[in-house]
Amino acid sequence: MKAVIYESNAGSTKKYAEMLAEKLNIPAFSLKEAKKSVPQGEECVFLGWVFANKVQGLKMAQKKWKLQCAAAVGMNSEGKKLMEILKEANKTDVPLFYLRGALDLSRLKWLQKKLLQAIRSDLEKQKKPGTEEMISILRDGCDFVCEESLSEILAFLMTKS
Ligand SMILES: Cc1cc2nc3c(=O)[nH]c(=O)nc-3n(C[C@H](O)[C@H](O)[C@H](O)COP(=O)(O)O)c2cc1C
Repeated sequence: MKAVIYESNAGSTKKYAEMLAEKLNIPAFSLKEAKKSVPQGEECVFLGWVFANKVQGLKMAQKKWKLQCAAAVGMNSEGKKLMEILKEANKTDVPLFYLRGALDLSRLKWLQKKLLQAIRSDLEKQKKPGTEEMISILRDGCDFVCEESLSEILAFLMTKS
């Protein structure tokens, strides 16, 4: 394995990528850096933040490198249904994992904040059961980044080496 490559918007995917790279004893590169320094076809792992169910950067990363696996980093809580949605939205053959990331509203671009505010007020109006946690995340942010979340990916990569 040559590198962990990541696409991060506000930093949590970068944090996961750096933690994973340290565990694997390989470098971590942003997608922009990797385009210059990781040769095409190398075996890599890819981590991308989720925007509207799409794993950002995955499409281009899987064209350029041989991805052993990829991880979607999002704010939703994990589950079988979420994985089905992500697999369907990203149409990839690369084994896909999920890592729960962080939402730091102060680090988002104006338009991104507006979009999340609109989703929040919709959810508040609908008052559907089970949406309370998401409403609170969209209002106050969250931080679920932790090393233990990487255990599934690490176990998978062990079987590959
Ligand atoms: C505009 C926007 C759209 C998002 N859409 C989703 C989504 O569809 N599903 C999800 O799980 N998380 C979504 N998120 C949450 C991010 O994927 C999550 O905060 C992630 O940890 C961000 O990674 P980063 O800190 O590396 O940018 C969205 C965040 C923003 C700002």
